[in-house]
Amino acid sequence: MLILRKLTVSLLDRAVVTLLPAVPKPVIRRISSRYIAGSELADARRVVAELNASGKLATVDVLGEEITRVDEAEAITQAYLDVLDAIDEDGLEANVSVKLTGLGLKLDPALARDNLKRIAARGTFVRIDMEDSSTTDATLELYRELVDEGFENLGVVLQAALRRTVDDARALAGANVRLCKGIYIEPPEIAFRDFDEVRASYVRALDVLLDGGCYVGIATHDEWLIEQGLRAVRERGLDPCEYEFQMLLGVRPDLGDRLVEDGDRLRIYVPFGRQWYEYSLRRLQENPKIAGYVAGDLGRSLLRRR
Ligand code: FDA
Repeated sequence: MLILRKLTVSLLDRAVVTLLPAVPKPVIRRISSRYIAGSELADARRVVAELNASGKLATVDVLGEEITRVDEAEAITQAYLDVLDAIDEDGLEANVSVKLTGLGLKLDPALARDNLKRIAARGTFVRIDMEDSSTTDATLELYRELVDEGFENLGVVLQAALRRTVDDARALAGANVRLCKGIYIEPPEIAFRDFDEVRASYVRALDVLLDGGCYVGIATHDEWLIEQGLRAVRERGLDPCEYEFQMLLGVRPDLGDRLVEDGDRLRIYVPFGRQWYEYSLRRLQENPKIAGYVAGDLGRSLLRRR
């Protein structure tokens, strides 16, 4: 019965994804406006200031599609430098999250390294997002290389869905690590596909990271995992300044508010940029489950309005 339900849900998710390109752009814009700050830096500034006013921290992500030219990597790097200026000017409680492919990783790893160094040289904390498994080794290597060069304001991301993650967590003792489930659909040889296996891997990796003295960004909207996260930090007697929870803009704000009310640190991932349309479609197509969440969310909010 459960298998049948899962299959029906996944078929529905795929149907939503297939229909998406036919949905008029203004409709997609309205749907995604909840998850994306807007197309301009001014939008991100406003959203981050609002989050800060409600006791939440932020990490800003400049949306960019897959790049194929050096000047595109340069434009994204420059956009991050502008974000860092804005954070300083407005005194925002925020850092940035970068994708190495956006900085040029697939064109030339040396280009991505240089661009990352230019961003990190400003001193604000820089989180290197984790992309699909073709980039995992390069991402971890570049992170280590820059840390060895003396950059102390860098952090990485581990994905619980990958079978290698507990080993990676062991090798990252003392680091600043965001732990998430992983958004990319990866082959079963290297990744857990089963929901409970991913949860179990998440809990194992979290324990390893905390025992290794890492500052962990517990990035999830899964209530059960949030409970496990709270258990793990309480068991170790950690203060709220020694870890943080992280969530995506517009996703389960009720859970986030609860954490903040209880005195936990919460950082919201705030994407913005002109490529919001391409980004929204690509993320939905990469993982049809998200299309299901969005459709579910939309249905619930329409019902609430009636
Ligand atoms: P799960 O998928 O079980 O979701 C729990 C509930 O949250 C769902 O039932 C639904 O209600 C809601 N929900 C979750 N995602 C939603 C969405 N997109 N829209 C609407 N509702 C949603 N991944 C990655 O591979 N590399 C990375 O660098 C990052 N970075 C990152 C930063 C932050 C701050 C977060 C919160 C997440 C990421 N992720 C990521 C994404 C992550 O890997 C994962 O895909 C999502 O967080 C969804 O997984 P959950 O743990 O929330 O559980």
